[in-house]
Amino acid sequence: MSQLNQRVIDSLTVLANAVGDFSPAVFANSLGAEDMVLTDLIAKHYPEIQMFSLDTGRLPQSTYDLMQAVRTRYGLPLQVYFPNSSRVEGYVAKNGVNGFYDSVEARKTCCHVRKVEPLQRALNGKKAWITGLRREQATVRANLQTSTFDVDNGLQKFNPLLEWTNAEVWEYIKANDVPYNKLHDQFYPSIGCTPCTRAITAGEDIRAGRWWWESPEGKECGLHLSRTPVSHA
Ligand code: ADX
Ligand code: SF4
Repeated sequence: MSQLNQRVIDSLTVLANAVGDFSPAVFANSLGAEDMVLTDLIAKHYPEIQMFSLDTGRLPQSTYDLMQAVRTRYGLPLQVYFPNSSRVEGYVAKNGVNGFYDSVEARKTCCHVRKVEPLQRALNGKKAWITGLRREQATVRANLQTSTFDVDNGLQKFNPLLEWTNAEVWEYIKANDVPYNKLHDQFYPSIGCTPCTRAITAGEDIRAGRWWWESPEGKECGLHLSRTPVSHA
């Protein structure tokens, strides 16, 4: 059996576990390359798993195009969560619309308002959530487990693609003709909000284009970290 087939089988086992023991389980779908693999696997094998995306309001057009393509291709509902409008208004009034460039604190507050608070709403009442995190993406992800209790959010968290390599993700996408974000073809391996994502150059780390002005250790948006105190807008 090919390495890729084995990876698929292992990931389906993880998804079976989530569905079997932790329903309702939801899939947090950023529409990144990993999440498109999961979209395809879930659509083919576990369509009962609900999918959601956090629309920060600052996503690239190509991500919205892909959201639409997923709807057409798979016919599955992708529930979109928006940030609380009065909190965004408060943030912008205090920090400015692009205030996230001014300090790490202002950036983390923006991520909290636009992603973390909506995530908490999306997870409310669920027993598990599923992500596309991979171990090799970042040093802070090196010690993750495939299934673990997420203390901060109070539910089980599954990472079915944890052991996949970047090459395997792309092998799956090509072999299954999975739609993907066109920015990936323009040297954007990791895509978040437009103002906080840039292309990388040869030899750079795959997450080097995310919050590139910050030091590498702190470059997480708060979706996958133990909750740290943040100032609210
Ligand atoms: S981030 O922390 O740097 O933003 P990354 O882009 O690597 O995260 O994505 C890791 C996982 O977090 C994704 O596989 C997905 O499960 C979840 N995630 C990130 N952004 C979103 C989003 N906008 N909507 C839904 N899930 C997301
Ligand atoms: Fe705000 Fe940038 Fe975080 Fe998006 S990635 S929520 S624009 S700070």
